[in-house]
Amino acid sequence: MIYKLLRAFLFLLPPETAHQFTIHLLNFLKCFHLNCLIKNKIKRTVIINGIKFENPIGIAAGFDKYADAIDAMAGIGVGFIEIGTFTPKSQTGNPKPRLFRLKKSRALINRMGFNNIGIDHAIKKIQGKNFSIPIGISISKNNDTAYENALEDYLYCLAKAYNYCSYLAVNISCPNVPNPADFWAGKSFAELITAIKAKQLELAEQYKKYIPVFVKLSPDLTEENIKDCAKLINESGIDGVIATNTTTTRPEVVQESDRNEKGGLSGEPLFPLSLQCVKHLRHYLKPELTIIAVGGIHSVASAKAYFEAGAQLIQIYTGLIYEGPGLVKRILKT
Ligand code: FNR
Repeated sequence: MIYKLLRAFLFLLPPETAHQFTIHLLNFLKCFHLNCLIKNKIKRTVIINGIKFENPIGIAAGFDKYADAIDAMAGIGVGFIEIGTFTPKSQTGNPKPRLFRLKKSRALINRMGFNNIGIDHAIKKIQGKNFSIPIGISISKNNDTAYENALEDYLYCLAKAYNYCSYLAVNISCPNVPNPADFWAGKSFAELITAIKAKQLELAEQYKKYIPVFVKLSPDLTEENIKDCAKLINESGIDGVIATNTTTTRPEVVQESDRNEKGGLSGEPLFPLSLQCVKHLRHYLKPELTIIAVGGIHSVASAKAYFEAGAQLIQIYTGLIYEGPGLVKRILKT
């Protein structure tokens, strides 16, 4: 009820402004210990890849692009947060407007274009701080880095972030970068994950700790693509996957005029696509590999479907905007 009122107000603001306002508000509540009014206190501890999560529900990448909201999100009682995506250099992203609400479909379309403060600045903001929840750091290449040089960007970010997170997310599925399909051409995926694995092992030796690496995939991959991808991931020693990012497709149910805005669609209409992807991945990946499921979780039923499909952890983003922080508690109560 309270969230419905707040949402009515937030939806009067442009989406990006509403997002920044929400982060300020949650930080304010946490600062004055008022977050206890909305905090999920239910624990369902899981240990995945050696990381202890108080509960398996996290915040997906892109929500906290500036490493500003970690305490705020811990304050509402989520199990973890994936910050970023960060690139080697800071970027302003695409011109505004670049985020659209499709209210009837309970969806968003975004073409943010990786606006971020750069990995060095992000690390400066979090180093030396003690956060109460595990943090994943999502990394990618700069938009002006050619695909043939992408590996250097990923390795740079990996080395910078390694010592400051519980896991690393290699984002290769953003639809809002120039020619994302190029990435899948040739041997680039195999080369990328092989090089990342080698760097991860080198860093594990250097820091005397092993930080798992997960690869974030697109929901627009065909079953055949997923099969190929899973084979390479199985062979590479990568620790698991995050499925999925946003879709460039426009499912029939999305009827609002903004459906034709360029960008990635998230929210309820994404759910069937992402769930299918998770099911295929569970089928083709080695059983011991982790799946973090994300895409259209707006209800207890959708969260349950992902766990039943074999995900160990789930993440939410658009669902939090439409359903509010109470969604976390509702899922954990069942
Ligand atoms: C995203 N997402 C995203 N993912 C990622 O890996 N790096 C990023 O920087 C972003 N940025 C981003 C911005 C905005 C505005 C949105 C809505 C989404 C994708 C996000 O993490 C998630 O995979 C999808 O949104 C699907 O989940 P939901 O939103 O349907 O729960």
